[in-house]
Amino acid sequence: MLIQIPQVLSADELAYCCSELQKANWADGRHSAGYLSQSVKHNFQLADRDPVALRLGEVILAALDRNSLFTSAALPLKILPPLFNQYQQGQTYGFHIDGAIRPVTGTPHRIRTDLSATIFLSDPADYDGGELQIEDTFGARSIKLAAGDMVLYPGTSVHRVAPVTRGTRLASFFWIESMVRDLSQRTMLFQLDNAIQSLAQDVPGHATLVDFAGIYHNLLRNWADT
Ligand code: NI
Repeated sequence: MLIQIPQVLSADELAYCCSELQKANWADGRHSAGYLSQSVKHNFQLADRDPVALRLGEVILAALDRNSLFTSAALPLKILPPLFNQYQQGQTYGFHIDGAIRPVTGTPHRIRTDLSATIFLSDPADYDGGELQIEDTFGARSIKLAAGDMVLYPGTSVHRVAPVTRGTRLASFFWIESMVRDLSQRTMLFQLDNAIQSLAQDVPGHATLVDFAGIYHNLLRNWADT
């Protein structure tokens, strides 16, 4: 399940992130790639503990915290501190799969990467190429979103960033460990929540809404780990 979440960042937050990233200390992305993906990763990245990454990461986590669509879709238990990358003309990250377990740098904690997230930070008019391409059973889906928008996709997906052929592509990316580990269960909860929201809008105050909300929470109680 791919989920697009529009305008995760406000215009002010987006402008702040982009201006800070202009003057940030970019490193070769290969340093943080796993053994198999090193040869296909050609980009720049901020180090995990880079002060700019930590500061902007806080902005993004606060934005996620107020986003009910994100909460409903991801049911987040833990979010890895957001990372940042930059692709210049000619750079790409070939098809790869993200590691299942990631350490949280500087802490004894690890997270399981149930969901991957990318927030696009550059205006798509400012660069060509750079689509996030995600393999699913229908083939590869190509995603290039407005600045400030986010895509959430299963951590199990093979994916790549297509070569940038003009301009610069800035993005934030991170992983989420969900309270509901199983993708099909998480998908059903998301669909049920959407159905309840839509019914609540169309028929406000309908008595059955309480029953549906009860089913949602009882399923969540069965399936979630906290
Ligand atoms: Ni990846």
